Amino acid sequence: DLARVAARPKIHFAPQRNWMNDPNGLIFHDGVYHLFFQHNPEGTAWGNMSWGHATSTDLIDWTEHAVALRYDSDAQIFSGSIVSDDTNTSGLGTDGRGPLVALYTAASEGGQAQAVAWSDDGGTTWTKYGVVLDRGTSDFRDPKVFRYENHWVMVTVEAADRQIHLYRSDDLLRWEHLSAFGPQGPTEGIWECPDLFPIGDDWVMALSVNPGHPAGGSGMLYFVGHFDGTSFAAQRWDWLDHGPDYYAGVTFSGLDERVMIGWLNNWIYAHDLPDAPWQGSMALPRALTLRDGRLIQTPAIVPTEASRQVARDVALGAEEWVLPADALQTAVRLQMTIASTAATVALTLESVEEDQAAPSVHLTYSEGELLLERASDAFIDNELFPVTASVLVPEEHRDALDLDIWIDAGSVEIFAAAGSLTLSVLTLADYRRRRLAICARGGEALMTEVRVTELRSSAH
Ligand code: FRU
Repeated sequence: DLARVAARPKIHFAPQRNWMNDPNGLIFHDGVYHLFFQHNPEGTAWGNMSWGHATSTDLIDWTEHAVALRYDSDAQIFSGSIVSDDTNTSGLGTDGRGPLVALYTAASEGGQAQAVAWSDDGGTTWTKYGVVLDRGTSDFRDPKVFRYENHWVMVTVEAADRQIHLYRSDDLLRWEHLSAFGPQGPTEGIWECPDLFPIGDDWVMALSVNPGHPAGGSGMLYFVGHFDGTSFAAQRWDWLDHGPDYYAGVTFSGLDERVMIGWLNNWIYAHDLPDAPWQGSMALPRALTLRDGRLIQTPAIVPTEASRQVARDVALGAEEWVLPADALQTAVRLQMTIASTAATVALTLESVEEDQAAPSVHLTYSEGELLLERASDAFIDNELFPVTASVLVPEEHRDALDLDIWIDAGSVEIFAAAGSLTLSVLTLADYRRRRLAICARGGEALMTEVRVTELRSSAH
């Protein structure tokens, strides 16, 4: 029988078994990156929500650990965050030592409320403390906590109201309402997983909406604005990723720089993707900065292998330039710059084996616009799986467009125009069964350089 075989990613985190959605509790602590995640420990579909746990020292190789916070008969453990309570403001630490404190959503038939758990062994084992903030509502969730001046601030959503609520606390246990933000910007879908953080003098409010993203289904956006300690005021907003598959991204606690991890998926078809022992993967960690009020995203991982040049000054025309097949034997990073152009430049990533025909992905650059298309998949019964997503390239990058393309098994992530645009897309296919070709239509274009970096992870 023909069936889509799920391809296990090499450099993207995926659990060994069972369902995963949002990243939770991202924290850099004692030299280790911790990634907790929404997880069903007992099945490949959403349910029994608990926090899975993985750690890494380089954000590439992840070691998965035992489930950190397990659902029980009272509540499921929905999304949330972790802070290091260094001075033991909560009093939960043993012998006065500062514990790690998790704030998560306890979700039950009775409603959703924010709850606390703590760990005094650096995040391996957790003790539930209980609910600390309850509005008596059914869609109040996803607490993200950060230190502000000499107290804590929590950002959380009333998902169905399309509203963010800010709270403050001295001890992580008693919370006082500060202000509300929204509805504002995209309000077609519910609001989930907010994050608020400073970059320089500005503040960024990142948010996930489901549905309402222009590529179809769920997606992320960000507001840039000002936070005065009480309320957030937005000056502008934009989509955070222009592809179909980036959701629930939040940033690490415990780092000076801003590093975000998102879920590489879309709620609209997350349950229709091929079954495997596991279900779902994370997008690559991204470093976030701002340039002229625009979010700049660059990969926050450093490949162990050196990059090599595979082409130089290629005049692209109607005839295809094909990436040497040996360059697609593993997960790869492809860096190129396309100069000129009167032409339309078209990049195609497609299957070479018919029995494994995966959806082809096309990236077209024409008249200042980048267009990403993913074809339908014979094995996926969801009319929103075929995608067309487009985005305008900022003026200053149009004459020489740089593309930084990360091709892993199952996905492609594109960072374009010096990080000012990202497009994430699930392809489901194994890189080894694919072919990558580039051509120009309606004129010539110059590809000044193509570099390939092989991407390895010792963990996969
Ligand atoms: C976002 C989300 C969160 C919620 C979690 C439940 O994808 O719906 O709002 O806490 O997933 O798994």
